[in-house]
Amino acid sequence: MKSNKKFSVVIAGGGSTFTPGIVMMLLDNIDRFPLRKLKLYDNDKQRQDVIGEALHILLKENAPEIEFTYTTDPEEAFTDVDFCMAHIRVGKYEMREKDEKIPLKHGVVGQETCGPGGIAYGMRSIGPMIELIDIMENYSPDCWMLNYSNPAAIVAEACRILRPNSKVLNICDMPVGTLRRMSQIVGLTPKDLEVNYFGLNHFGWWTSVKDKEGNDLMPMLREYISENGYLNQIEVDTQHTDPSWQDTHRKAKDLIALDPNFLPNTYLKYYLYPDYVVEHSNKEYTRANEVMDGREKTVFDAARAIIKSGTSKGSEFHIDSHASFIVDLARAIAYNTNERMLCIVENKGAIENFDPTAMVEVPCLVGSNGAQALVQGSIPQFEKGLMEQQVSVEKLVVQAWIEGSYQKLWQALTLSKTIPSAKVAKEVLDDLIEANKSYWPELV
Ligand code: NAD
Ligand code: G6P
Ligand code: MN
Repeated sequence: MKSNKKFSVVIAGGGSTFTPGIVMMLLDNIDRFPLRKLKLYDNDKQRQDVIGEALHILLKENAPEIEFTYTTDPEEAFTDVDFCMAHIRVGKYEMREKDEKIPLKHGVVGQETCGPGGIAYGMRSIGPMIELIDIMENYSPDCWMLNYSNPAAIVAEACRILRPNSKVLNICDMPVGTLRRMSQIVGLTPKDLEVNYFGLNHFGWWTSVKDKEGNDLMPMLREYISENGYLNQIEVDTQHTDPSWQDTHRKAKDLIALDPNFLPNTYLKYYLYPDYVVEHSNKEYTRANEVMDGREKTVFDAARAIIKSGTSKGSEFHIDSHASFIVDLARAIAYNTNERMLCIVENKGAIENFDPTAMVEVPCLVGSNGAQALVQGSIPQFEKGLMEQQVSVEKLVVQAWIEGSYQKLWQALTLSKTIPSAKVAKEVLDDLIEANKSYWPELV
């Protein structure tokens, strides 16, 4: 791609709560990443029409030179595009609520991407994600998909097996968000920090954090996190700010206690303190309810207000600057910048003493050929043991989906560190099957 090129982008999941913030972020970064076309694509016309029409008004007022459309037609959406930014939620909030509440009913962790909830969401997402890749390749064979649809670990493993040659890069914003917190703790900006990290998606550790001069910032961070977790004195993020997230940031102090050599990803709390998580969950009102009553309501109300008034002036849409890593990623591919970023890629020796076929999250150099993993060396027994168990869960889910195997999915649930026994695994599974009838393949 030439450096004077302007890009055509489609956002899949165009009716998402994150779409307005991401579009505003793209406009804010237009000098770094120029756009000629922007399209929104969703398979839910009602959601797409509201978000699409509001953004149509906003773009007309702020960037009329960008050709903007929104559609539920795959051909229109994916013809002539250079990048697909994908954030679909298969089953929407209605199913996220079930993913969280069904396990809790059985006394186990109910979470969007971890444990049985994440497994259920994975079983729903594999088919539509593969379909989306096929649509993209059919209409725009050179297009790159930057995917952050969850559950990213399972989606990434499914891509590795089912579409090994496709141009799909899977990425997560949690390390980005936590790095911003770390940078505030040490009084620098995220771009001042260089890290090493290893793990699976939503399951990893920072092994070093240095400034550009090579000064080791781990001692300062370790001391702070052991006391406060990742809770900052001043809020630095635009996301991850609700009280339940604050609790998650704080809990990192109990995660670091297990291995003070490394700095933990906040998601480890679901695996290392599942009893705490269950005790502190409200079975009747989970994170899905918080988001439906919070972010979803705010974003859709703001969109309707724009449509009603016919102008985006004074609107409640906010720039999601937290998502600018997506532009960094697109730029890295478009301009071959070789920027160092954490991506979810096939291990192939990056973690020396770990399954080479595992989809791991490690620092990569990203350029026009995609992400090249940087070698992280060998990892200790404790983290390796945890990761081997978890990666087996993820692999078994994908195998269960491909083979339509009840047995393998039961094994996956049984192996999850969030579930105490095969008996409980079976009870949860049978309820999840019932709830996901119209989404999962039939299991025999
Ligand atoms: P949302 O429900 O508001 O939006 C998702 C949209 O996807 C909905 O409008 C839905 O209709 C649409 N959709 C579902 N299936 C589709 C399909 N097959 N084709 C086209 N569109 C489809 O959800 P949200 O809270 O805004 O989150 C969106 C996604 O982004 C979720 O998967 C979420 O987990 C993910 N996410 C990931 C990260 C990360 O770190 N990787 C960060 C934030 C959000
Ligand atoms: C983090 C994770 C995402 C996840 C999101 C959920 O950003 O990295 O993978 O989707 O949190 O946030 P929510 O506000 O929807 O609970
Ligand atoms: Mn994530």
